[in-house]
Amino acid sequence: MSAQPSPTAVAAVVVLAAGQGTRMKSATPKVLHDLCGRSLLGHVLAATEPLGAEHTVVVVGAGREVVEEHLAAIAPQAVPAEQKEQRGSGHAAAVALEALPDLAGRVLIVNGDSPLLRTATLAALVQASAAAGDVLTVLTAEVDDPTGLGRIVRGDDGTVVAIVEERDATPEQRAIREVNAGVYVGNAAALRDALGRVGEDNDQGEQYLTDVVGLLVADGAQVGGVVAGDPDDILGCNDRRELAARRRLLNDRVLDELMLSGVTVVDPATTWVDVTASVAPDAVLQPGTQLLGRTAVATGAVVGPDTTLTDCEVGEGASVVRSHCSGAVLGAQASVGPFSYLRPGTRLGRGAKVGAFVETKNADVGENSKVPHLSYVGDATIGRGANIGAATVFVNYDGVAKHHTTVGDHVRIGSDTMLVAPVTIGDGAYTAAGSVIVSDVPPGAMAVARAQQRNVGGWVRRRRAGSPAAEAAEAAEARAASDTGSPGGSTTA
Ligand code: UD1
Ligand code: CA
Repeated sequence: MSAQPSPTAVAAVVVLAAGQGTRMKSATPKVLHDLCGRSLLGHVLAATEPLGAEHTVVVVGAGREVVEEHLAAIAPQAVPAEQKEQRGSGHAAAVALEALPDLAGRVLIVNGDSPLLRTATLAALVQASAAAGDVLTVLTAEVDDPTGLGRIVRGDDGTVVAIVEERDATPEQRAIREVNAGVYVGNAAALRDALGRVGEDNDQGEQYLTDVVGLLVADGAQVGGVVAGDPDDILGCNDRRELAARRRLLNDRVLDELMLSGVTVVDPATTWVDVTASVAPDAVLQPGTQLLGRTAVATGAVVGPDTTLTDCEVGEGASVVRSHCSGAVLGAQASVGPFSYLRPGTRLGRGAKVGAFVETKNADVGENSKVPHLSYVGDATIGRGANIGAATVFVNYDGVAKHHTTVGDHVRIGSDTMLVAPVTIGDGAYTAAGSVIVSDVPPGAMAVARAQQRNVGGWVRRRRAGSPAAEAAEAAEARAASDTGSPGGSTTA
């Protein structure tokens, strides 16, 4: 026996995402623009997902192929419905309802450009609508500046009687500060019926979803309006200024939550954390930090200043200073920077160190190993306790293919060593500074692979006569000669 659907549940969610987004002035469809780690559409779907609707339909049109591709990636359970011509939000809603089977329950319709909507706000709307027994309930908000938004017209008894778009509103209606959020919940059959009767007699010549309110009220149906607890929730996004403003608000929400949970954010104004990132209590985010994608920062870690981490894991007590990292995993107590670049596949063991001006890629750096200065480490496995001298290059590319280098435990790679892959340096081995290592080095060996030094005596005096270098050399020679000439020989300190 199947369970009876709860009266407060929604049977279907419809997201309107077919609009051009003309005001964005973009080759990218509006709903795909990103803020805080998700597209506009992604935020809306993340808010509706916990409501547990059996059906989710996304109306697509402008940029349909890319929007559908995106949808398949972020919400494969959602079904796209094509609105061939963008004839208005009412027409879009009608297209969605046609794509749905006959529903006994209620349907929630949401604009696809409202990234700040929260699940709790939607759930409260659905609940209030069911409790009141409304045929349709609209989410509204009281705002200081209603410019551009549909106004909620209430009758003398306070019930919602119409929604009037700003461009169609009378001066008195424009003075109303209660606005339409673009979120509606109602009876699917009644909505279908009313949408079939929506005209195009308005300033834009479009079918307005908002007109169903007046139609249903005229039918004698009960229509309600629920004011959102936080007016920020309903903010849409129509141009790039609004996109920036919504991003700022969403980021503030993320940072507030982090700070309340025990994270130190030194400068919220310059710290950006995606909704998909996580930071544990007692981590510290210094100014100019960006935590993007699936980045996770553990307790006691310090990130920044001026650091961007994308899809990285930062272990307990680790630190990253003025660096740019993506797809990297930093063990506990590891340290990175300043000024380093960690690329995907980098894994730093516990206590490992990547210092200044180092680039790494597909590199495993073992526990307590160090790459302190000016190196490139690509396609490498480095054991524990090893030290990679300054300016070492893991020469991984032969011009066609990439090759791997293995460096054992407690190895000492001399400064300016070229490790020409594929090559293996055995445990405890050394390489001499300036070596070009092309063959394997056995454990414990010292590999020297550089030209023998030759000093050409007196060259500067002969070939650079009169230069400051020659004068300095002559003065040094004269001092040496007088020292050896004096009784008692050379001085000792
Ligand atoms: C809409 C509401 C307005 C409300 C505001 C809240 C209407 C007529 N007006 O105005 O009352 O205050 O949202 O932000 O609905 N869309 C389609 N197909 C179309 C046209 C639009 O799918 O043919 C989608 C858009 O992608 C968008 C949504 O419908 O997600 C709303 O369209 P938009 O043009 O942004 O409406 P607004 O002018 O913002
Ligand atoms: Ca809009």
